[in-house]
Amino acid sequence: MLRRLHPEQPEGFAFTPANQAWAREQITKYPPGRQASAIIPLLWRAQEQEGWLTRPAIEQVADMLGMPYIRALEVATFYFMFQLQPVGSVAHVQICGTTSCMICGAEDLIAVCREKIADKAHALSADGKFSWEEVECLGACANAPMAQIGKDYYEDLTADKLRALLDALARGEVPQAGPQNGRFAAEPASGITSLTEFVNASIKLNASAQLAADIGDTVKRIDGTEVPLRAPWGDASGMRGAANASAAPTRAGDASDKRSEVPGAAPNVKAKAKPEPDVRPKEDVAAATPAESLGTKPATLAAPRDDKADDLKKIKGIGPKLEQLCHQLGFYHFDQIAAWTPDEVAWVDANLEGFKGRVTRDDWIAQAKILASGGETDFSGRA
Ligand code: FES
Repeated sequence: MLRRLHPEQPEGFAFTPANQAWAREQITKYPPGRQASAIIPLLWRAQEQEGWLTRPAIEQVADMLGMPYIRALEVATFYFMFQLQPVGSVAHVQICGTTSCMICGAEDLIAVCREKIADKAHALSADGKFSWEEVECLGACANAPMAQIGKDYYEDLTADKLRALLDALARGEVPQAGPQNGRFAAEPASGITSLTEFVNASIKLNASAQLAADIGDTVKRIDGTEVPLRAPWGDASGMRGAANASAAPTRAGDASDKRSEVPGAAPNVKAKAKPEPDVRPKEDVAAATPAESLGTKPATLAAPRDDKADDLKKIKGIGPKLEQLCHQLGFYHFDQIAAWTPDEVAWVDANLEGFKGRVTRDDWIAQAKILASGGETDFSGRA
């Protein structure tokens, strides 16, 4: 299937303050220069915030991670989890159409979607509440046919059961996820035949279905307000950056968050005070990129020593624009760059607006060390 950006795109995108802070924490999971590894969680969070993944959102995430737009676009268009067009305001229904489900009635489920939502996949229902698509195997083949609605699985479906689920969702209800035919999990339809001594009749739902019930965020989108923002790998204050106070641990969003919200989870995400609302203007929030919180700012100079800056363009990867940016940041000399620690490289990489990640990518440090000692690199010799 061809996956393209939707022809109609919004003007811009900015993470909410809470999501911006969450994104900052995600980026700190990865070593300096490897921030691009955070692309999937950040794109996912952007999608949760907006409902679908817009071009401005993809570009914003790329900027935050110092990636070329095309790299972020490749990720967004590769994974089907990313919705590149608007989805229903209540739920996006994903019907598994692979072998087991197809044999067991997936076509009937798709017919229901055509009847109750829209004739074509990825189109919105008349009231804008629903959209649907056929997807490849979702890994619940023993409970075929099945559908993912929002974040949870509805299994052992029939056309009538799917109709009832859609009607309930349209009424604002969230039906219990899991098998819809009375099965506990994936045991034989006629009943369990082995390990019967382990059956506990007081447990009504399997673990996944129980978790879905406990968390209750099946079709709720993460908006940042309910997310435990403190990450265990964060610094002593639990957060870096100005939005520390915006943590609001109530319910969780993605799978890893969910686990920290259920009973018995690590307590560090449960005991935060109610946050102060972030009252910064939207522009300030958008400008507060993770760049401010990544790494350590190196020592800078207000002006070049003896009024004579080194020719930073001798470093492969630095052109006139990037040299100017280095000067604006207070870097004029090879020995300044040569002395940066990995932590300082992370800061500079994150703060080279429009050129993020270039220090690491072009290994400025190795080049600057040679140039600072009076030597020439292969590049500077030719330049
Ligand atoms: S074939 Fe449908 S979940 Fe695997």
